[in-house]
Amino acid sequence: MKRTHYCGELRAAQVGQKVTLTGWVHVRRDLGGIVFIELRDRSGTTQTVFDPQHNKPSWELAQSLRSEFVIAVEGTVRQRPAGTENAKMATGEVEVLTHQLEILNPSETPPFQIDESGGAQAGEDLRLQYRYLDLRRPAMARNLVLRHRMAKAVRDYFDGNGFLEVETPILFKSTPEGAREYLVPSRVNPGKFYALPQSPQQFKQMLMVAGVDRYFQIAKCFRDEDLRADRQPEFTQIDVEMSFITREDMYAIIEGLLAAVWLAARGETIPTPFPRMPFIEAMERFGSDKPDTRFGIELVDLTKDFAQSQFKVFRGAVDSGGVVKAINAKGLASATQGQIETLTETAKSFGAKGLAFIKVEGGEWKSPIVKFFSDTEKKALIEKLKIEEGDLILFGADKREIVWEVLGRLRLVVADLLKKQGTLKVRDDQWNFLWVVDFPLITFDRESNRYLSTHHPFTAAVAEDLSLLDSEPTKVRGQHYDIVLNGVELGGGSIRIHKPDVQKKVFEDVLKIPPDIAQSRFGYMLQAFRYGAPPHGGIALGFDRLCAILCGSTNIRDVIAFPKTAKAVDLMTSSPSEVESKQLRDLHIKLDVEDAG
Ligand code: AMO
Ligand code: AMP
Repeated sequence: MKRTHYCGELRAAQVGQKVTLTGWVHVRRDLGGIVFIELRDRSGTTQTVFDPQHNKPSWELAQSLRSEFVIAVEGTVRQRPAGTENAKMATGEVEVLTHQLEILNPSETPPFQIDESGGAQAGEDLRLQYRYLDLRRPAMARNLVLRHRMAKAVRDYFDGNGFLEVETPILFKSTPEGAREYLVPSRVNPGKFYALPQSPQQFKQMLMVAGVDRYFQIAKCFRDEDLRADRQPEFTQIDVEMSFITREDMYAIIEGLLAAVWLAARGETIPTPFPRMPFIEAMERFGSDKPDTRFGIELVDLTKDFAQSQFKVFRGAVDSGGVVKAINAKGLASATQGQIETLTETAKSFGAKGLAFIKVEGGEWKSPIVKFFSDTEKKALIEKLKIEEGDLILFGADKREIVWEVLGRLRLVVADLLKKQGTLKVRDDQWNFLWVVDFPLITFDRESNRYLSTHHPFTAAVAEDLSLLDSEPTKVRGQHYDIVLNGVELGGGSIRIHKPDVQKKVFEDVLKIPPDIAQSRFGYMLQAFRYGAPPHGGIALGFDRLCAILCGSTNIRDVIAFPKTAKAVDLMTSSPSEVESKQLRDLHIKLDVEDAG
C-alpha cells in the first residue's frame, strides 16, 4: 500500500477519492460496533472508519489496534454525517471509510500520552528519555517545523544579501577566557587537546582577513556552563561577520533579518528600525542590560533625596558612594508577609543586605522605616514614585551595581506577581526589540581582582574614548551592541579590532595576559592582522532562543530535537557515559575519579 496523502491534508475537495494513508494510531473509539481510528502523522490527524457492514476483515483487524501502532489504510474519503463534523480538526469535515488495513508495526503502550496534554503530565525527564515519542506530540512536531522554516528564512535572507555560509571547525583550540570549554583529547598527539568552539568567533574574523567579506553560519557552539532554561551545553547561533562596515550597517542587516524571520514564522511585519538604549540608561531605568520594555515599574533614583537622611541604611549607602533607588509595585500592597519575605530573600540572593519597603494601605504608609523619614523625604517619594493607595514600594541602598541587579530582578518578580493578580497586562505577542549599546569595553571583576573584557577581547573601543584606555579603562565604551527582545538577550556582537598593535595592547596592557600566553593563544591572529586585515564587525544571535520565543515557549529545550538536562545529560542515549580502559589508554588518559568504571 503506497501512501497517497498525508493525514492532515484531506479536505472536502477529496470527497469520493480513494486514498491510502499511513501513520500512528492516535485515538481509537468503538461506537456501536463501528471502530473509529484517528490516524496521525507529522501533518495532523484524520478520522478513519472501520465498519463491519462495509469490510469485515479490516474491521476485525481494527479491533486489535492500540495506541501508536503503525498502520496503512486504504479507503474512500467521505463527508462526515451531518452533526458529526469537528470544527477543531483541520480535516474535521471528512473521514475515510476503510476497505483495507495493514499493521506495519505494533507498539508497546507508550509511557505517556502522545497528545497536547501528555507532555505536561509526563514530566520532563520521561519526555527526554523517550524523546522520539515526545517529538511525535503535535506541539513538538510543530516546533520542529517552525524551526526549519526559520532556518530557511535565515539562509534565504543572507543569500539574498550576498553572504556566504562557511562551515568552521568543531575541533578547535583551547582559549580559556569566557565560559568553560569541552576538551577533546588527540590520540595522535599524546597529551594534547582540542577544544570545542564556544563560538566561531576567531574563525569568522580570519574569514574576513581572507576576503570573504560577508559570512554567516547556522553554527553549533559548545559551552560547559551551568545550565538554565535558556542555556544548553550545545546550542546554535546565527553567526555573522562583515567587512568594511559600521555599527549602523550591522543594525540594518539584523533588523532586516529579524523582519524576514517574523514574516516567515508569523506572517507579521515588524516595524524597523528598532529603538536603541545606552547600557547605562538600561541599568539606571530597568536594572538590567536586557530590559523588558513592555511594562514600566522603572527604577527611580532617590540618592540626592536621602543624602542627609536620618535612616542610617540609606544615609550610609550614600555616604560610601552608593545609591538609593526604589520601584513602585503598583497594586501590590496586598502582598502577604510570606511574599515580602520571599522578595527579601530574592534581594539578598543578588547581594542586598536587606529589603526596605513601604505598603500603602488604608491611607497609611505601613513600614518599619517611615518613622525615620522627614517630610521633605516623604514628599520626594510621593512625587517621584507617584505613590497612591495600594502601592508597594521596594528600596535598594548599596553600591550602584548591586542596586541595579537587585531592583532589576525584583522588577521582574513583582511584574510576575502583578500579572498573576491581573493588575498588570503584558502581551506575549508584543515585540519590543531593543538595541542596547555603549557597553563599557572593560569591566573590573571583583572575584578575580582584575579587568576583564565585558564581552570578548576582540571588541574595538569607541574612537573618542580611546585616550582613556590607560587611565580609566572602565570609562571606555566598546563598539558592542546587544539585541534584546522582551527581556531576552537574543544576541550580541561588535565592531572588532583589526590593527595588530591595538589588539596586542588590549591583550597585554589592558587584560594583563602575559605576552607569552597571549602569543601562544592568539599569536596567529596578531600575525593575520599584519597581512591586511580589513575593518570588520559581526554579531551572533541565539537561534534556540529565537525559536523558543516564536514557538511561545520559555524553555529552549522545547525547540531542540535532542536537548540535554540541567545536568548536561542526554537521557535518551545515557550520555555522557564511561568508556573502556583501552580507549583511555589509546588517548593517553589516566582517570583520577573514584569508582570510575
Ligand atoms: P555571545 O557569547 O553573546 O556572543 O553569544 C551570542 C548569543 O548566543 C546565545 N547563547 C546561548 N544560547 C543557548 N545556550 C547557551 N549556553 C548560550 N550562550 C549564548 C545568546 C547570546 O546572545 N562570538 C560572540 C558574538 C560576536 O561577537 O559576534 C558570541 O558568541 O542568545
Ligand atoms: P536594619 O536597620 O538593618 O534593621 O534595616 C532596616 C530595614 O532596611 C530592613 O527592612 C532591612 O531589610 C532594610 N535594609 C537593610 N539594608 C538595606 C539595603 N542595603 N537596601 C535596602 N534595604 C535595606
